[in-house]
This record gives sequence, C-alpha cells and structure tokens, in this order.
Amino acid sequence: MNIAIVGTGYVGLVSGACFSEMGVDVTCVDIDTEKIARLNAGEIPIYEPGLRELVCRNVEAGRLHFVTSLAECLDNVEVVFSAVGTPPDEDGGADLSYVLDVARTFGRHINRYTLLVTKSTVPVGTAAKIKAEIAARLAERGVDIDFEVASNPEFLKEGAAIKDFMSPDRVVVGVESERAKAVMTKLYRPFLTNNFRVYFMDIPSAEMTKYAANAMLATRISFMNDIANLCDRVGADVNMVRKGIGTDARIGGKFLYSGCGYGGSCFPKDVKALARTARENGCVMRVVEAVEATNEAQKKVVFEKLSSALGTELAGMTVAVWGLAFKPETDDMREAPSLVVIESLVAAGSIVRVYDPVAMAECCRRLGDGCSLPGDGRIEYASDMYDAALGAGALLLLTEWKQFRMPSWPVLRRVMTNPLIVDGRNIYDRSEVESEGFIYYGIGR
Ligand code: UDX
Repeated sequence: MNIAIVGTGYVGLVSGACFSEMGVDVTCVDIDTEKIARLNAGEIPIYEPGLRELVCRNVEAGRLHFVTSLAECLDNVEVVFSAVGTPPDEDGGADLSYVLDVARTFGRHINRYTLLVTKSTVPVGTAAKIKAEIAARLAERGVDIDFEVASNPEFLKEGAAIKDFMSPDRVVVGVESERAKAVMTKLYRPFLTNNFRVYFMDIPSAEMTKYAANAMLATRISFMNDIANLCDRVGADVNMVRKGIGTDARIGGKFLYSGCGYGGSCFPKDVKALARTARENGCVMRVVEAVEATNEAQKKVVFEKLSSALGTELAGMTVAVWGLAFKPETDDMREAPSLVVIESLVAAGSIVRVYDPVAMAECCRRLGDGCSLPGDGRIEYASDMYDAALGAGALLLLTEWKQFRMPSWPVLRRVMTNPLIVDGRNIYDRSEVESEGFIYYGIGR
C-alpha cells in the first residue's frame, strides 16, 4: 500500500515511521525544505525516544521517503493523511489554514479515487469544510474524480509516541462509506492486538472524540490541582487523597497527579478550542472553561510558594530550576509551566540557573539570557543538575525527569546557600528531604 503523510511534526513523523515499519510505502511531505533536507540526511528534528532508529531503518529499507511536494506524489498514493498543525488563532480557535491548504492541493492534483484522512486535531465540522474545498478545486478543473474524506484523530503522547502508536488503547476512525472503512481497516490491521480495537463512527463523532478525550484528561488534572490547593490550606496530603480516590474503579488511578499545571501542544490548545466551538454553537461549557482558568492559575503556584517564603530576598538571589520541558522525555516547551515560573523569577530580579536533560537549546532559543523579559533578573544555563544549584537560595523542581528523582541531598546541601526546595511535581518524600535539613514545599502536601 502507498500512502502520503503531510506534516512532519510529532504526529506526522511518528505515524509515517510506524506505518512504514509495518510494510507500508510512506511518503512524508513537508513544505519546510530545510526540515526535509535534514530528514533525508538522517537528522530527526524532534527529540522522541526510538524515533531516529525507526526512521533510519525504514529509509534504508526504501519504504520511507521525505519530499517537499504533495502534488508530485499524489499519483502514486491511495491515502493521504493530513497531519499539519492547527495552532490557536487569536480567539483561541484552531487555525485551519494549513489543513485547508492540504485540501486545496489535493483537489488540484488528484487523478483517481483517493482518500484524505485528517489526523490533525480539528473542530467538529472541519471535514465538511475540507470536502467543500476539494469539490471546489475539482469543479475549477472541470473534472469529476471520486474522492472521500475521513477523520482519524491521533492520541499518542509525546515521549511515548512510538509505543502509543504501535500499541494504542484504541483507534478512532470517522468514515462515510464502506469503501473508506475497508481502506482504513487494511491500514490498521497490522497493529491489531488482543485488546486493541478500531472504532468506526461518523466523522463529527470522531472529530469530537479527540477534544472530549483531551478535555476530560485536562479536567482530571485541574480538578486534582484544585483539591491540592485546598489540601495545602487544611493540612491534608493530596497524594493520600489521590490513592484514596484512584482505587475506585469508576475513577481510576491515572492522570490524577497534581503539580505545577499541564502544558504541551495539545491540552492547552484543545481545551481552549473546545470551549470556543461550544460558544460558537450557542452553548457554554462551564467546566471546560474553568479547567483552563484553573490551569493558568496553577502555573503560578510554584512561584507564589517561593515568594511567600522568601519575599523581597528573591531580588538578586540565585534560584535553581530543574526541568524546562512541559513533561519528561521531550524537549518540547510549548505552554510549559517553566516559562511562567522563569518569567516571574526574572521579574522578581532573580538569577535563574536552569538545567534540563534535553530542553536547554530550546529554552535558549525561546528566552536566551532572559534580558528580553521584563525585570532585572537573568537566566544562566547550567552544565548539570548540581551546577544549576550552585550558590542557589532555592531549588524548584518543574519537570519530573528520572535523573532528578534521587538527588544526592548532601551534595545539594553543600552547593546551595539556603536549603529550600519547591517540588512542583510532588516527587520527593517530605520527611526524607526534611531529615536532610531542607525546607520542603510540595503541591497539596
Ligand atoms: C496529550 C494526550 O495525553 C494525548 O492523548 C494527545 O494525543 C495529546 O495530548 P501530551 O501533550 O504528549 O499528550 O502529554 P501528556 O502526557 O498527556 O501530559 C500533558 C501535560 O499534563 C503535561 O504537562 C503533564 O505534566 C501534565 N500532567 C499529566 C499532570 O500534570 N498530571 C497528570 O496526572 C498527568
């Protein structure tokens, strides 16, 4: 089978590599010529465990190709996956211009029945817009070529993308005909395992499923962050509460970890877009809107704890930050809580010494030495986690990378000028940290 995948971001690149691993001939398309040149040279533009090996192996086997023109490969493929970005527009909605560009090219250049499958997260009703766009281009050409659209939202998590794609909990596919269903069944059959199912449904339901899943997960996190903040005030421990409720099979134990707020390319954007779609359709999703507001407030909690402990001392003080990425196993800093914390520290006049195992270059690209941020503080890039703590009056843990989980407390005690830790991910044991002579602040404990 021959397919094309447009967009070589997380979703497109991982999907392309995984389909090709299963024997499908995959052409990955991106308008970014430099990115395509790098991919052809075996350079992977994102950090994702296992991806480089998978891409190189399949390129070598001749099943995975990288090109810059969708028009030129359309004659050779049965299915086109659209995995281009849908960044938020000024009103919090999803910007569909890239998605519609793909539809336009598709309509201008197909010469036989081809299926256009949308993998990008798009608001309900987008498939209808895509269809109209293609039909208009075919009409311009004066041709009558059979085509179809389908929706196949992607649920993979960054950092575990290959595992998630190779053995997903489920695959959701929105189709309009048996013909499209047969094509998609054939593509996904190699991934079939005992407990994995493809759910076929209508297209609007498939589009809605993706938003509902992300909003539900984000809701669990914001809910637990609210509980944590109350735990702080009444002297309860949110970790105990999490275990106490997570063992109820109706609630389940996953995605109940409170912390310094969720980030990433999906939750913040999708929660906003869902609330916006609701308003456009005349209903207000009060819970979803509160989820977003709660998360924005939560990103400030680490700094607030630090500031109420140290107050004006923060001006001129060195503060260590462990973890910059929005979660471990990625260099992605989109909407990361670290951005909010660093901004507040620079505004307070602190010297922020940061360390992250893979996101240092990304932080440097975004913030540099911090002088473009308002405030007298600045950012310094440390060579390792202990170097970050050198001369620090406080240490903030923002991303729960494995290497931060069991630090040497005596070394930290030696290099820091003041033994204070704010654990933004609740990974440390309070009594252990306190017995080593540190002042400890967690989230909701
Ligand atoms: C998410 C969805 O999980 C995935 O299905 C969808 O396709 C894309 O969006 P991702 O953004 O890669 O994936 O990250 P995820 O692992 O879900 O974490 C998102 C954020 O939530 C991170 O900042 C993480 O630290 C935070 N989080 C997660 C919590 O604060 N608490 C939790 O219990 C779980």
